[in-house]
Amino acid sequence: MLTLDTTKARPFLQADWNELKSEAAVAEKLLNDRTGIGNDFLGWIDLPENYDKEEYVRIKAAAERIREDSDILVVVGIGGSYLGARAVIEALRPSLAAPNDGWPIIYFAGNQISSTYMRNLLKALDGKRFSINVISKSGTTTEPAIAFRVLKKKLEETVGKKEAARRIYATTDKARGALKKLAEKEGYECFVVPDDIGGRYSVLTAVGLLPIAAAGIDIDVLMRGAADMRRRNLENPGKNMSVEYAALRNGLLRQGKLVEILANYEPGLHYVSEWWKQLYGESEGKDGKGIFPASVDLTTDLHSMGQFIQDGNRILMETVIRVAHSAEPVLLEAEEEDLDGLNYLAGRDMDFVNENAMRGTQLAHLDGGVPVSVVSLETLDAYSLGELIYFFEYACGVSGYILGVNPFDQPGVESYKKNMFALLGKPGYEAAGEALRKRL
Ligand code: PA5
Repeated sequence: MLTLDTTKARPFLQADWNELKSEAAVAEKLLNDRTGIGNDFLGWIDLPENYDKEEYVRIKAAAERIREDSDILVVVGIGGSYLGARAVIEALRPSLAAPNDGWPIIYFAGNQISSTYMRNLLKALDGKRFSINVISKSGTTTEPAIAFRVLKKKLEETVGKKEAARRIYATTDKARGALKKLAEKEGYECFVVPDDIGGRYSVLTAVGLLPIAAAGIDIDVLMRGAADMRRRNLENPGKNMSVEYAALRNGLLRQGKLVEILANYEPGLHYVSEWWKQLYGESEGKDGKGIFPASVDLTTDLHSMGQFIQDGNRILMETVIRVAHSAEPVLLEAEEEDLDGLNYLAGRDMDFVNENAMRGTQLAHLDGGVPVSVVSLETLDAYSLGELIYFFEYACGVSGYILGVNPFDQPGVESYKKNMFALLGKPGYEAAGEALRKRL
């Protein structure tokens, strides 16, 4: 069961902890009563219980079909239409070698506009059986649209237009957008991004579930973890861990802790941090407010960012995701000649070393003036990730309301798009393009 330990961070607070928690409870009530700003995007709150059961069955069937007819699934999407799936898949599937579990390898595309990446991907698809899941809520986002145009052509050239249409799955708005129109015209199977769920809260919809299921991960267990966390939160208003986390980080922000680092000691969690950064960055970074979400992979980054965390500008707070037990621990054995001086660890496993590296680092960071909280997962599995996803989503809603922003919109994302369209010469942007070119 997921737990949160804030005991070592709370002594840093200058404000009264009970007052902070009361403030967070008020924010939580806004969320639960659905009376706060952005309340038309709260479909994610009940999602682990209240989802489209018919579509869920189709997701599983599509995953099985992809398994049968494809060695590779290319998932095309960006931001909220990409990071959740990648977070879960990279956490739960081996990344060192191609997994030999009978499920397709998942490649991601459309999350940047690099020709080099696309060329390499096209080469990797040569001679392989592949399917595509194109994901875009708006159906008009440039990065995935460009990637999809190229990949669709490749698939059609490889298997013919009719078979390609069978191997393309579109996850998008139920009625609107260019992707929906295209999917209907070409006859792709469609999955829906619900109207009341924003991109960064959509991992437990078809947006995340189809790629995750196609990677051979048990989505029933993922949903059960999220549902259990939801129940624990809703049954304990004002007193749950999400509220505690939201209260703590806002209290620390007010004292000048402007940056929160999410730290992990498991390389597989790298993309969980990327997902978390989008969730918090896009939800809170607006109106001149917010905590800047950053991340480190440890102990790796102790040899790069460790100096700053320990000793640099004291604007940091840290949240560690701890995994209590590995599924398959690695034992350290004694050697006859103790040349590397490690025989004192003989009989211990690597988890023991990792755990103590974490404990030592936590105390060092506390001594350096960095408040550290710890979110513990039992093991790295689908259930724990379901819990973690819901824990952070719920806390993000509460935290955004404490901060006084709308945690469910992202007006700032539009600015770069307008400039890019203008510079690319998109029809309708001619005057803006001219003005921008003069500034370059
Ligand atoms: O959270 C968000 O809303 C954004 O990050 C979007 O997910 C991202 O811009 C992709 O949008 P779309 O799914 O419409 O292609």
